[in-house]
Amino acid sequence: MPKVTYVEADGTAHTVEVDPQLSLMEGSILNEVPGIIGLCGGICSCATCHCYIGGEWAAKLSPPSEGELAMLERASDRRPESRLGCQVVVTEALDGIVVGLPSHQSIGE
Ligand code: FES
Repeated sequence: MPKVTYVEADGTAHTVEVDPQLSLMEGSILNEVPGIIGLCGGICSCATCHCYIGGEWAAKLSPPSEGELAMLERASDRRPESRLGCQVVVTEALDGIVVGLPSHQSIGE
């Protein structure tokens, strides 16, 4: 099963196994990793699954959709490597991926 390392803003890392076909958001919730909320349940309408995926891992992902980009406008502390965790599906090719988490998620901002 692919391993995903979620890294909190303070540097605390959580490496967990995530079933393929689950999203990074679902993987964090099911493994009780703090930092992702997933308020809308994964339908790309809240931005509380904001995370950072950079470097080699970013190159392995499909680019964000128009809808994801629009929703990222609502994310706090957005960066070039920002993604929505609910829009990234875990696959075997992502085994070992490192996912940064923001210091907080924007809710109603
Ligand atoms: S869980 Fe709401 S946009 Fe990802």
